[in-house]
Amino acid sequence: MNLNDNHHYILSYYRTSEISGALFFGRLAKIIPSGPIQVDMTKHFADEAAHAFYWTEAIQRLGREPLKLRDSYQDQYNEAIGIPTNMMEILAITQVFERRVINAYARHEKMPNLNPVVRATIQKIMNDEKWHIEWIKNALKSLESEYGKDHIEDTIKKYSLADKEIYSKTMQELEERYNYLVKGEM
Ligand SMILES: [Fe+2]
Ligand SMILES: [Fe+2]
Repeated sequence: MNLNDNHHYILSYYRTSEISGALFFGRLAKIIPSGPIQVDMTKHFADEAAHAFYWTEAIQRLGREPLKLRDSYQDQYNEAIGIPTNMMEILAITQVFERRVINAYARHEKMPNLNPVVRATIQKIMNDEKWHIEWIKNALKSLESEYGKDHIEDTIKKYSLADKEIYSKTMQELEERYNYLVKGEM
């Protein structure tokens, strides 16, 4: 079964986002000091790169080539929120972002008549995404003595609000295409 244009766009969008995630964490993994956060961040970066590959492969198996898309959601983030200035802020923003990703995939997986290739790809990715949320939660906990629990929680809240705003401002196209798919127009 070939992908229609909406599904093609959405899967290409996922691929682009996974690449942006891999590059973001890859750069960080290269510069942060050694320790448990470095280990997990390196794994995280490798996972996001693998996810980009899974989508590339899935799109091709479904008879299309990935679309070249300019911006990913991460790029919009950086523009709107600015570059985080310390490890706690990086992890806080990542936690908010990873929740957004996991919700998007969970929603996609519930779609009626979902293509089995897409379903299998989402399921494979979801296992890793769950771990991403988990390690970041633990890493943030380990930073409580340095930054303060309340300050960390406030930072996450601040980013969650920004996330909602950025999403509603910038994601109309994706949402429209998604709505077509939900109506069963695969
Ligand atoms: Fe991912
Ligand atoms: Fe992730």
